[in-house]
Amino acid sequence: MEDADRIIAPAQQSDESSLENTLRPTTLDEYIGQQAVKDNLKIFLTAAQQRKESIEHVLLHGGPGLGKTTLAHIIAKEMNVNIRVTSGPAIERAGDLAAILTNLGEGDILFIDEIHRLQKTIEEVLYPAMEDYSLDMIIGKGPSARTLRLDLPRFTVIGATTRMSLLSSPLRDRFGVHHKLQFYVLEEMMQIVSRSAKILNVQATDDSLETIAKRSRSTPRIANRLLKRVRDYAQVKSSDDVISPEIAQQALDMMSIDESGLDQVDRLILTSIIETFKGGPVGGSTLAATIGEDIDTLETVYEPFLMQQGLLARTPRGRVTTEKAYQHLGFTAPEDLQSRLL
Ligand SMILES: Nc1ncnc2c1ncn2[C@@H]1O[C@H](COP(=O)(O)OP(=O)(O)OP(=O)(O)O)[C@@H](O)[C@H]1O
Ligand SMILES: [Mg+2]
Repeated sequence: MEDADRIIAPAQQSDESSLENTLRPTTLDEYIGQQAVKDNLKIFLTAAQQRKESIEHVLLHGGPGLGKTTLAHIIAKEMNVNIRVTSGPAIERAGDLAAILTNLGEGDILFIDEIHRLQKTIEEVLYPAMEDYSLDMIIGKGPSARTLRLDLPRFTVIGATTRMSLLSSPLRDRFGVHHKLQFYVLEEMMQIVSRSAKILNVQATDDSLETIAKRSRSTPRIANRLLKRVRDYAQVKSSDDVISPEIAQQALDMMSIDESGLDQVDRLILTSIIETFKGGPVGGSTLAATIGEDIDTLETVYEPFLMQQGLLARTPRGRVTTEKAYQHLGFTAPEDLQSRLL
């Protein structure tokens, strides 16, 4: 199955940006969960405001759909500065970056999404810009070439990445502040779903909202997407204005999402390990090939959630299904399971 077609793919889908903009919290107080990150940011932002300084460079790390872009916009709003949005792959030449940097104002934020995908040559232009607020440009070619040093305003880079391990260490070191976003707990997911339901004017019982929250893989983007799908289903299938738990359940069952938020691919991963590989351990690339995905997708999209749910473990010798996975899928766990998990 193409990842883009998966209802519970955590990445943004092509038709989703307007929905996301409507539902995006705009202040730290509206931003649900991630309490430790918020507490730290509040102090950090207030201190910078009191000193009337621009903020240090911030690196946000976390899986797709957990709220990195949202947080970057909130920081800009709280600091009352402009935000310029770009991404690693969008900056193709050093000149592109120079054009962006020279157009920034004092205190402005440059948000670089997918910053792990910046080219090396571009990174090298970015280092002095982040460190000394200067830009070295080479004018002309050959023997007559000379460098011109431009002073830049004191701007702030907010970098976002889903793959911290792919970020070069010199780049990582240039960020004074690092924040890792975590998966959301059920109570936070419920707050997110009910907030979105209010904004979208969807009427649903608390039980229905809980059903949606439970199946959203601890990820706000998926919660919003499922809410929208359930709303559509209810509009067609139910005469009632209020979404009942039964209707929510039916809608989600139709999308093959089970009560733990697993879809067919997740279940295929777990059953392959249990049946084909006798519970594991099995190497990542073998597993990826078995389910017809590449290793990168397996590692960033599927495994983090399965591990967070305690259904899958990564051991030095490979992937192993846990007792909970056997129970969830109705299999009996082998007796030596514990020793495999070591
Ligand atoms: N803490 C939160 N509270 C409420 N809603 C949230 C929160 N975090 C994210 N959302 C919702 O989830 C959607 C996706 O969040 P966002 O675009 O910030 O994710 P992201 O981490 O940037 O994902 P990607 O890695 O794909 O860029 C947003 O439109 C927003 O409505
Ligand atoms: Mg984003």
